[in-house]
Order: sequence, then C-alpha cells, then structure tokens
Amino acid sequence: MSDTVALLPGDGVGPEVMRVAAAVLTRVRPDVECVEALVGGAALSQGLPALPDETRALCDRSAAILFGSVGLPQYEGKPLEQRPEYALFVLRRDYELYANIRPVRVFAGLEEASSLRSELVTGLDLIVVRELTGGIYYGRPKEQRTVDGIEEAVDTMIYRAPEIERIARIGFELARGRRKRLTSVDKQNILETSRLWRRVVERIAKEYPDIKLDHLLVDNAAMQLVRRPGDFDVIVTENMFGDILSDEAAILTGSIGTLPSASLGTKGRPGRQFGLYEPIAGSAPDIAGKSVANPTAAILSAAMLLRYSLDDDAAATRIERAVEAAYRGGARTAELARNGAAALSTQAFADAVAAHV
Ligand code: IPM
Ligand code: MG
Repeated sequence: MSDTVALLPGDGVGPEVMRVAAAVLTRVRPDVECVEALVGGAALSQGLPALPDETRALCDRSAAILFGSVGLPQYEGKPLEQRPEYALFVLRRDYELYANIRPVRVFAGLEEASSLRSELVTGLDLIVVRELTGGIYYGRPKEQRTVDGIEEAVDTMIYRAPEIERIARIGFELARGRRKRLTSVDKQNILETSRLWRRVVERIAKEYPDIKLDHLLVDNAAMQLVRRPGDFDVIVTENMFGDILSDEAAILTGSIGTLPSASLGTKGRPGRQFGLYEPIAGSAPDIAGKSVANPTAAILSAAMLLRYSLDDDAAATRIERAVEAAYRGGARTAELARNGAAALSTQAFADAVAAHV
C-alpha cells in the first residue's frame, strides 16, 4: 500500500514553498501520494473553519502532515477559533504532537548572512526541543472577561510531571546521538511550573549519566544564544520559551527560511511515527505570491518526514545532501544573495536542489 501525505500549504508563502517541497519528496519517493487540503486562512476565506472536517479526515488517513504556514494580517485580533493559527493549535493538540524538534544549522557558505560575526556561527549545529502541547498555550482558564467593570484576560501556565518527563527524554535521547550536552531552559527563580520542570529534568537525568546537563534561566538563555551559540548542543524547554528561543536560534543562520521542524507525538512507532512537518518561518505575507521565498525549510521538512514518518533515512539523507550541494554550488534565494550573486526564484532554487537529488 502506498503512503499518503497530507499536504496542507496554508497561507502566505506556504503554497509556494510546499508545492516545490512536495515535488522534491515525490522525486525521491514516487510511490508517496501527496494529497492537498485547505487549512488556516485559505480555509477561513472559503467560509470553512481553520481546520475543515475534510482536512482532518485526510490527516486521519495519512502517514504524516506536510504543513506550510498559517497566519494572515486580516485575522489579527480575532478570537483564536477564528484565526488561521487555530488549525495548528488543534492539530498539535488532537494528534498529541508534544515534541517539536527544530534543528538549527548553518550551511557552509552562508556564515556571512548571519547577523552575528561569522566566526560565532561557523559550523553551528544545535537542536531546540520544544514542548508543544502543554504550558501556557493550552492551560485553562484561557479567556478575556470583565470583572467588576474592568476588562481582564487570563492564560494559564500548567505542566504535569509526565508531560515534562516525556519531553525531557526526547532531549536526552537526541543529545545521546550527538555531542551529549543538554541544556534545559526554565524560569525557576519565578515560576512554579519551572521549579517542577527543573526537578523532573534532574530526575530523568539520572537515567542518562553520559549526558552533561545544565540549566539556564530563559532570559540568560536568550542572551547566551547570541553570545556563544556554538556551545549549545540540544536545548529542551517548555512551549512558549521554545517558541521564542527557536525563532532567535533560527535567525543565527542568516535566514529563517532555511529551518525545518518536526512535531512528533504518541502515535506510531520509531521510524513510522505520525508527525507534522513544517518550516519554522511563518507565512511571510509581505513576500507571498512573488516566488522569492526560500523553500529550503520546506524541502528539509519533507526530508524529516521521510526519516521519522516513512522510515526512509536514505531518502531523507539524499535530500539533505542535495540541499547542501545546491548551497555549495552557489544557489541563493533573494534574502541570501550577496555581492551581486543571482537571486533564484523559489522554483529555480528547488530545481537546483532537484538537480543534486
Ligand atoms: C510556531 C508558530 C506558532 C506557535 C503560531 C503560528 C501559532 O509561531 O510554530 O513557532 O506559536 O507555536
Ligand atoms: Mg513561533
């Protein structure tokens, strides 16, 4: 039986980058069927919910989701249920995709594009592991209300020990396969959830004596990431800290358009896990429809999908090597083109990658 991948392009640059990524995926695995469906603003604008039933049904019968991006300025300020982001919120929750893995790597030749001095980012290779289904994103109560005639709003940050244990294990396991360093990020000087977080991570650490664990407060972590990024190997943190730090880590590479992510959870088995794969970058409506967006993150997300959901490490590696080769060969999209180098369109960059697959 051939595998189905739910292709949810979404908003902004999502459709441009995901279609070329799906083409690269099916080039290495012609047997995989990518079936497209509406999500986010693309669905809302048709009078459908952000995650239509049909889209959910497609996800239910797919091996994995290849996701573009959601979010458009015209929905700002609306209640969560009426915003494009709600689709992502629901997918993560309902498919229990608690482990968000965001590898941050600087491709050889792109060091100059970083906002940091190139010697700080040369060879940079770290992973942010973000808890994705708990914390302040999902805690209840979560509402705006009027009390005694005064408007107020509440979000609730809550963690239960098992949620921390399972994400900590992902961090330790990933570190074990790499440089054996894990940094856990919290705010334990102020937050109760962070005190629990640190205690649980310390407890799990006993199962991993070969891993060097350290803890950083989130404000300090934000600073150290730009001061000494090369010292980090695997970072594990709660949902909102991870949201913020992963954007910060991503821009170290010079373009947030180069970084993929995998969101994995409780469904499936190793190599055949159900997952959602998406670029870290957002919908970037300012450059949408111009064919200038960098499809690297989308293409590398497809590679991660092959590795974790279709048990095809070889195909994943072929794609990753092809992306590296394209950069080595000088292929650059507009945001990375320097010193008069030609700026390739989204499609032309993907063609350069495909040529090396
Ligand atoms: C991310 C995004 C999402 C988040 C938005 C689009 C809801 O910023 O995946 O990092 O906050 O998790
Ligand atoms: Mg984010």
